[in-house]
Amino acid sequence: EKGGYDYFMLKEIAEQPKAVADTLLGRIDAAGSLSLDEVRIPTAELREVDKVVIVACGTAFHAGLIAKYAIEHWTRIPCEVELASEFRYRDPILDSRSLVIAISQSGETMDTLMALRHAREQGSKVLAICNTNGSTIPRESDAVLYTHAGPEVAVASTKAFLTQLVACYLVALYLGQVRGTKWGDEISAVIRDLSHISGEVERVLETMEPVRALARSLADKNTVLFLGRHVGYPVALEGALKLKELAYMHAEGFAAGELKHGPIALIEEDLPVVVVVPSPRGRSVLHDKIVSNIQEIRARGARTIVIAEEGDETVVPYADHLIRIPATPTLLQPLVATVPLQVFACELATARGNEVDQPRNLAKSVTVE
Ligand code: F6R
Repeated sequence: EKGGYDYFMLKEIAEQPKAVADTLLGRIDAAGSLSLDEVRIPTAELREVDKVVIVACGTAFHAGLIAKYAIEHWTRIPCEVELASEFRYRDPILDSRSLVIAISQSGETMDTLMALRHAREQGSKVLAICNTNGSTIPRESDAVLYTHAGPEVAVASTKAFLTQLVACYLVALYLGQVRGTKWGDEISAVIRDLSHISGEVERVLETMEPVRALARSLADKNTVLFLGRHVGYPVALEGALKLKELAYMHAEGFAAGELKHGPIALIEEDLPVVVVVPSPRGRSVLHDKIVSNIQEIRARGARTIVIAEEGDETVVPYADHLIRIPATPTLLQPLVATVPLQVFACELATARGNEVDQPRNLAKSVTVE
């Protein structure tokens, strides 16, 4: 049942190219437009939406954080992302023009379910992004866009996360399409790039041996920090979460721009710091700033583990370890940048003798608040 892999997690990491392709299947028509018939919220209502609110937990929350960048960029609709467990306790401002997106692999997470119930009571429309057919969250939502990751058995979410990202991009692009944003050309280009992304994820998977070796060499460390900016920031948070739950290590993700506001005090000799570097094309200001951050932390002794686009030579002098990912449009980079972090956490967990598929104290679906 593990298809020749030692753990379900390894199998599920390897299945990501297919999971990503399956989630796109049938949703982009021959003309390169999106057809999301499942989103049974009338387009007239989608045009009226004046705010998007995403609720989710854990890894699904990180997908939501990334979705915010895409939604705001392509639709210019303000988007908030909130931990489902915090949402209804702060009396959120919602009405019939708010579109609430609930992201959940299992479809049974109680915190997310309670958040969406609260949103519907306020008259908001709820769209679920879910991996489990017929589960509670989609049943209680106005519409559902299923991720087609297939069953995810390992407690730590991997392929579900990548497909949640794909679904979020589809929703963002669809809202852009329905509302006719000015980004028409960019949207068609992104749709084209999305349709190639499964092959890029495959290429990343083929180059993971050095990442495994690196992970094994860090097995006796206590702390690993993760830095990112823009969509790389949630990727850093996700890398840290994977390491906590699998390797039981102290792991923290920071927005790289925040370093000087506190976290840089943590840097000490030989502390491993993973840095997700944005594309040097696109938002190149951010790229240059993060390269300075890498220099700063290295000057203070950090062991820098740099995830950067192929062809980005500026990072080479400052990277103790360099992990290459294919060039993608900025907003899609999380689909390739997350994969090495999953492999890293999985290998570290194995090296530390931990149970990879069933980390201590965790359950696959959390049906209590
Ligand atoms: C992390 C992980 C959890 C889940 C979270 C939400 O690897 O698996 O953080 O992402 O419990 O679960 P779902 O998506 O089922 O609502």
